[in-house]
Amino acid sequence: NEYAIGVDIGGTKTLLALVQGNGTIVQQQQFATLPEQGVEDFISRIEASILSLIAGMPEAGKLKGIGICSAGVIDAAELSIVYAANLGWHNFKLGAILQERFGVPVILGNDANLAAVAEYVWGTQKQAKHLIYVTVSTGVGAGIISNGQLLQGISDSAGEFGHISVDLRGERCRCGNYGCLENYSSGTALAHIANERLEKREEPWTSKMVLEQADAGHLGALELVQQAAFYLGNGIVTLIHLFNPTQIIFGGGVMSSENLLFVLMKQIVEQRALPDMRKQVELRRTNLGKEIAVLGAAGMFFMNE
Ligand code: BGC
Ligand code: NA
Ligand code: ZN
Repeated sequence: NEYAIGVDIGGTKTLLALVQGNGTIVQQQQFATLPEQGVEDFISRIEASILSLIAGMPEAGKLKGIGICSAGVIDAAELSIVYAANLGWHNFKLGAILQERFGVPVILGNDANLAAVAEYVWGTQKQAKHLIYVTVSTGVGAGIISNGQLLQGISDSAGEFGHISVDLRGERCRCGNYGCLENYSSGTALAHIANERLEKREEPWTSKMVLEQADAGHLGALELVQQAAFYLGNGIVTLIHLFNPTQIIFGGGVMSSENLLFVLMKQIVEQRALPDMRKQVELRRTNLGKEIAVLGAAGMFFMNE
């Protein structure tokens, strides 16, 4: 009869869920993030949502804690969002504020890292001890579970997979590095490059259109998907070589179907990873859907039980 609340702060919407110890989502809440309205306003809306989730808990239920995830730079120890590029927030001690307000333990973590926790605690291969979760959406991120532990590093920033250089002489990324993976393989990148290089359409290109057109044989779109798969696949090879996982699980909008990007990426891995390590790892898409990050944020409270 134990529960935890998971919160996923996205650029456009914030999703919250009351999650039971068996991984069932009992109730959900969501609101528009609207960072431009300021942090005070955001705090009052998040508090109202949490209160309503708590009200939905059975009388005898125990709330173990609140887990929050965010993209970008965070300070897990200070429960603070140091810098969220997509939200424009600096040193926002959201976790500390909620801990004070609700008097339960609060954890703050990276979105992809916590999604990996969801796979570990509640995924289909329950308790695979060596797994990596990779998200390909607005950005590219990863969460690494090694020997049953989430690799967090000092600030839960371990697994910044989207900002490894895959083109060593590539263009400058907004993070300061050059030729970062997410500038070739993310949904944002697919749309951006398509709008720069492909013929104009009535509507601007979106990543979904690029993927659909590539599947339909559009040569320009196909080339972009091949490039995205090439860089992503090579990044995956590096993850396999560094961490020797048994599962690499893909999520995020770009990986929501068994599209050409997924298939071509797997071919690169097949061709390039050390054969013995390649044989030990399964590459698949997540079954946990778009609630994966809220599940993981709550899952931190059920991780080593
Ligand atoms: C951010 C990561 C995040 C990933 C997926 C990247 O741009 O740097 O922190 O995990 O996007 O949202
Ligand atoms: Na990460
Ligand atoms: Zn970068």
